[in-house]
Formats: sequence, structure tokens, C-alpha cells
Amino acid sequence: MGSYHKTMVLLVVLLIVCRISADLERFEQTTKGDGTLRFLVVGDWGRKGEFNQSRVAFQMGRIGEKMDIDFVVSTGDNFYDNGLKGVEDPNFVDSFTDIYTAKSLQKQWFNVLGNHDYRGDAVAQLSPLLRKIDSRWLCLRSFIVNAELAELFFVDTSPFVDEYFTNPGDHVYDWRDVSPVKTYIAHLLKDLELALENSKATWKIVVGHHAIRSVSHHGDTLELVDQLLPILQANDVDLYINGHDHCLQRISDTKSPIQFLTSGAGSKAWRGDVNTSNDQGLKFFYDGQGFMSVDLTYTHVVIIFYDVFGSILHRWTMSKPLLHSIM
Ligand SMILES: *[C@@H]1O[C@H](CO)[C@@H](O)[C@H](O)[C@H]1NC(C)=O
Ligand SMILES: *[C@@H]1O[C@H](CO)[C@@H](O)[C@H](O)[C@H]1NC(C)=O
Repeated sequence: MGSYHKTMVLLVVLLIVCRISADLERFEQTTKGDGTLRFLVVGDWGRKGEFNQSRVAFQMGRIGEKMDIDFVVSTGDNFYDNGLKGVEDPNFVDSFTDIYTAKSLQKQWFNVLGNHDYRGDAVAQLSPLLRKIDSRWLCLRSFIVNAELAELFFVDTSPFVDEYFTNPGDHVYDWRDVSPVKTYIAHLLKDLELALENSKATWKIVVGHHAIRSVSHHGDTLELVDQLLPILQANDVDLYINGHDHCLQRISDTKSPIQFLTSGAGSKAWRGDVNTSNDQGLKFFYDGQGFMSVDLTYTHVVIIFYDVFGSILHRWTMSKPLLHSIM
């Protein structure tokens, strides 16, 4: 093939790649450039400091400093009880800006929406106006963060849950820009699948609010087991990280290397219900407040769960042959 033809083929391929992955917004996260990536994960937190939110925040600051973290991930249910009322809602400052005050937490925060966030003005949390109030804030429904050795795929999981549509009870959900939901989910899954297939990152990490697997109050989210999990299993995803259940847990998938990590213990916890009939692959469960850290290199991952005193509750590490990252 002549070089002209090669160039044309390359152009067409590039155009296709750009087009198919155009729907999920992408962000480049600069890293320290030393082959490490470290971040904290907290979920289900915004309660103006109450229910130990401030104590968890303090320990996040301490551990964040020690680890020299690159960013923070929030697994949703950012503001209780019913999200934000609008961009001017003081709950944003009271539950976020004024709580996570440590120097080490003055980094980019990547947030998804939880079901409680959809009970308020969901669109407000996505607004760039919030970034003017606190520049750390970034919340979108579904998006991708390219952080050199890892790619993080944030997925909007609330629209998957049938019950919120068929049996909402007293709750009113803000489904603006989500309806019709079947189309919304079909597009989202297609975009995610293509993005995962095209990903060259050593570590593929998917973040959503709802658990795929959980032995706690809400249990497995069956819609995600049916619709999302097969895509993750087919595309070498390493970690699925969620909140929703107000606890900390690690469950290993029985059919793939995926680890299901719940970090939904940013404030109110102590639900007291564990379903042991559903504990295949369960490696760790803590029914109290705390958070999680993720420490990555090209060959290793270290996951640590901490309680409200910053004490280590559980530590898990896994290595990958370097070959994997070169291919
Ligand atoms: C705060 O954390 C402590 C230690 O885990 C726990 O005993 C206490 O019940 C928590 N308080 C609330 C309000 O959850
Ligand atoms: C426990 O989990 C099983 C299987 O997931 C489910 O069928 C059952 O209803 C759950 N029990 C309770 C008390 O929630």
C-alpha cells in the first residue's frame, strides 16, 4: 500500500474512532508522571458534617496527605436528603466546601449522581456554576477520566433501577434529559462498551452509585447484574466501585477477576442488615463509616479501607504482569 493510501486509511480509522467515542465526555487528568496514581473514594456523604461526616473528612485529609493523592472520587448521594434545590443551595458549601477542608483534599473531585441526588435538582449538580463556587467540583452523568495508567469510566446508574420509575413512593425524581429511559440506557451501554473496547489503559476502573454486588441493605442491583456486568466482564475491567449501601465491602466476582468495592460510608451508616444468603465471593464487610484508598502502579494495585479513626480495616493487593501494560 502506498503512503498516500496508508494516510487515508488512518484518517478514516481516526474519524470512526472519534465518532464512536464522542458521546461520553472525556477528561485528561494530569498525574505526577512517576508511574503512580493514588486517589480516595468516598460515597453517600452530604449531611453538613453530621453522622461522622466531619470525622471521615478529617481522616481522608490525613491519609490523602500521607499518600499524596492525585484526586478524589465520590460514588454519589452527594447531598441528603434530596440532592440540591438549585445551584444556589447553601447545602453545597455546607456539606462539601466547608467539610473537606484539608489541604490534601484540595484536588479535583470526580462525582457521579446517586438516587438521592435525583430527588432534587439533578441538573444543578452538573452545572459549571458550581465550579465557580468550588473549583474542585466536577459532576456529570457519565464520563471518562484518562489518568495515564488507569482509565476511569463513570456511569450514571440510577436510571437503570426500575423501581424508581414503577414504584417511586413519595419521591419525585428529576429525570430531565434522561427520558425516554430505555433509549438513554441503550446509548449509555453502547458508548461504554465501545470506550472500554478501545481503552489501552493498564487498569480499567468503572464507577457507579449502585452496587452490582452487595450483601448489605439494598443487595445486588439486578438491573446492573443483567445489563452492565456482562460488558465489564467481557472487557477486562479490574474494579467496579460504588456507594449506595452505607458500608464498606469487597466482593470478588466468581466469573472474572473483577473486584466489587463499596465505599458508601461517608456519613450515616450502621444499618445492621447483612444478607448472608448472598455472600459468594465476599472478602470484607464493615457496617460503619469510613472511606477507601486506591494506590496504582503499572504492575500493582493496593486497596485499603479505613474507619472513622483512620485505622486500616482491610487491605487487598493484586499484581499484573508488566507485559499486560506494554501490549
Ligand atoms: C461515629 O463513629 C463512632 C465510631 O465508629 C461510632 O461509635 C458512632 O456511633 C458514630 N456516630 C454516628 C452518629 O454514626
Ligand atoms: C437475601 O438475598 C437473597 C438472594 O439475593 C434474596 O432472595 C433475599 O430476599 C434476601 N433476603 C433479605 C432478607 O433481604
